[in-house]
Amino acid sequence: MSDTFLDRVYAARTAAETRALYDAWSASYDAEISAQGYVTPGRCAEALRAHMSDPTQPILDFGCGTGLSGLALALAGFTTLDGVDLSAEMLEGARAKGVYRDLTRIEADQPLRHAPGTYAAIAAIGVIGAGAAPISVFDTLMEGLAAGGLLVFSFNDHALQDPANVAKLAEWTDSGRARERFRDYGPHLTGMNLNSCVYIVEKT
Ligand SMILES: C[S@@+](CC[C@H](N)C(=O)[O-])C[C@H]1O[C@@H](n2cnc3c(N)ncnc32)[C@H](O)[C@@H]1O
Repeated sequence: MSDTFLDRVYAARTAAETRALYDAWSASYDAEISAQGYVTPGRCAEALRAHMSDPTQPILDFGCGTGLSGLALALAGFTTLDGVDLSAEMLEGARAKGVYRDLTRIEADQPLRHAPGTYAAIAAIGVIGAGAAPISVFDTLMEGLAAGGLLVFSFNDHALQDPANVAKLAEWTDSGRARERFRDYGPHLTGMNLNSCVYIVEKT
């Protein structure tokens, strides 16, 4: 019987357990996830490129992991990428990709260190939902943007099944604090028949 990280990742766990899981997964993450056809990063990057006229503006890749999301953003034309992640080992993988200006290990549940407006856009690609960051980070990310700033993020099918995730997005858009600019449901991990919804919201 196989026992891959992907078999185990979508269970709920604490931030410390999440960090330990990704530290342990870091060496095989790229191979395992690429073998399953990980297409959400490319979908997010292309969508963001269509909504940002200047690709040299800085982008924060939150939960950058080993940098597959940063690589997709770079391939889409973005040139100024900083990454943050819980896992030091995942960040080593990101460093090796050579596409980030800066990489920082962060703690869960802490406010972001930058002033709002530092980044024209924040990406949280494959990051929010069971197996990674809790939906409370959505507030943290939106608070890290200035008016006009964009958040590109994905909810996979597991995340979409948790009503709290979609409710958090609605909380921001229904109150007029954010405007949805893009939404597309499509493939996430093609080999697992898992889909995701990619969103872009603008802080108002
Ligand atoms: C499935 S990976 C996605 C990585 C990368 N964005 C990609 O598309 O390959 C999820 C990442 O989120 C990170 N993560 C989980 N919880 C986090 C949190 N609360 N704050 C920051 N990063 C977190 C994990 O360490 C892991 O690297």
